[in-house]
Amino acid sequence: MSITFKVSRSSSTTEAVGVVVASDGPVPSEIGLNRKQLSARGFDAKVGQTLVLHGLRGSRIVVAVGIGDPRKFGPTEARNTAAALARAVSKSTSVSTGLADAGSGNRAQIAQAVVEGFRLATHRYTDLKNDKSSASRIESVVLTASSKSAAAVHNGVARGTTVADAVCMARDLANMPPAYLTARMMAERAVAIGQATGLDVKVYDRDQLANMGCGGILGVNKGSTEPPRMVKLVYTPKSGAKLIKGRKGHVVLVGKGVMYDSGGISLKPSDPSHAVMKMDMSGAAAVLATMSTLAALNCKVQVTAYLMCTDNMPSGSALKLGDVLTMRNGKTVEIHNTDAEGRLILADGLSLAAESKPHAIIDIATLTGACIVALGEKVAGVLGNNDALVEQLRKASSRVDEPIWPLPLVKEYRKLLDSTVADMRNIGGPYGGSITAAVFLNEFVSDTPWAHLDIAGPMKVDGDDGWMQKGATAFGTRLLIDTVCNFTAV
Ligand code: BES
Ligand code: MN
Ligand code: ZN
Repeated sequence: MSITFKVSRSSSTTEAVGVVVASDGPVPSEIGLNRKQLSARGFDAKVGQTLVLHGLRGSRIVVAVGIGDPRKFGPTEARNTAAALARAVSKSTSVSTGLADAGSGNRAQIAQAVVEGFRLATHRYTDLKNDKSSASRIESVVLTASSKSAAAVHNGVARGTTVADAVCMARDLANMPPAYLTARMMAERAVAIGQATGLDVKVYDRDQLANMGCGGILGVNKGSTEPPRMVKLVYTPKSGAKLIKGRKGHVVLVGKGVMYDSGGISLKPSDPSHAVMKMDMSGAAAVLATMSTLAALNCKVQVTAYLMCTDNMPSGSALKLGDVLTMRNGKTVEIHNTDAEGRLILADGLSLAAESKPHAIIDIATLTGACIVALGEKVAGVLGNNDALVEQLRKASSRVDEPIWPLPLVKEYRKLLDSTVADMRNIGGPYGGSITAAVFLNEFVSDTPWAHLDIAGPMKVDGDDGWMQKGATAFGTRLLIDTVCNFTAV
């Protein structure tokens, strides 16, 4: 059940109301308590703080919602606060709140973030549960706004709904068990989603991939009984396409879609924690979700996407150590660890991306455990061959509150990938694993501006946290949407 939003001048007759309280100035009369009384109940109106007040207004649930200093109440604060309110009133079916018209920032952006906060904090993947009661009961949210703000709030609600739907879709895809989402099923879904959202979609099967010389994805797929799929999606702006360096702006996204990563013959230990390797397609899910929003958001650059989908399995036909693969761009790779499979499938996707000479390529992948060691579970790594592109991603990252941090693309580490028999091998030494992985990817982008997002850490959370819910996060979806919609020349 997803929440519907209404914009209204008054709070009407909802079961619950989230009353906005700033850390300074008068307390709204609906609260029925003064600041001292609120303080005595431990509520200081800090941003994101909530206090449920029962019965002060008949049977209606009144929740005090802190926004801190209104001048510092931007989209990030709005998203977090809306998420906190959603959690506080999750047992009510209808809620009204003035959060979308709070603070002094851009109304549309605040409203968008409020919608995201509500939707993302309440979304759960319940397809496979008989008891779906853990899900939030909220059905409708009334966003109260002054007549001056109403138009902007409406606009923000529309954008927030589009974006939140996309994030929830990507979360669902990543949370699905491997047998419920094979590469073929992912491709079928991409076709349906692409058709519903105005994209051109083309699916490539094993034979077509072989004809195209995509030795990376075929090599990784060798041990699997499930065939691979590559999905190409194209979004073309209807009107007003942005010109970049005299051409229609064009960005290519490449997503790692390893439907399940067993490690291949470099088998991962049989530890229950590896069930999350069903989420090794989180990059592809984020890219597909991003693509699904572009027409609705009226994105002004052309965006092409490649979803590189296969599982990584051991078997009698699996890729062996010492085998050499020839990638789409002709480079040869000696396999030294079949668990370093993500870079092999990305190699083909990046090669294809570079062939069309776009203004930028961005890949997103749950690529290395080393990135989790370096940056922890809340921050994704970003590397690339173009500082201006990395900078655009960092700006988008801070706007959408999906944290990323740069790691250096150390060219001298290229020699760690040297192979005796092929152009390179697929792993480096014991250190700097995220960097050597990116140095490997760099071999396939030629001189196209390129950035790589390593989302191994933030692909999941282990417990409900703000607007995130336990399980897959769809990290990168909002980051990519913001980046392509605001893309400028690099
Ligand atoms: N999908 C994994 C990386 C990963 C680990 C993602 C943990 C999310 C959580 C990737 O394919 C992998 O296995 N990487 C290896 C590379 C190594 C063999 C060079 C790793 O990080 O151990
Ligand atoms: Mn792996
Ligand atoms: Zn993997």
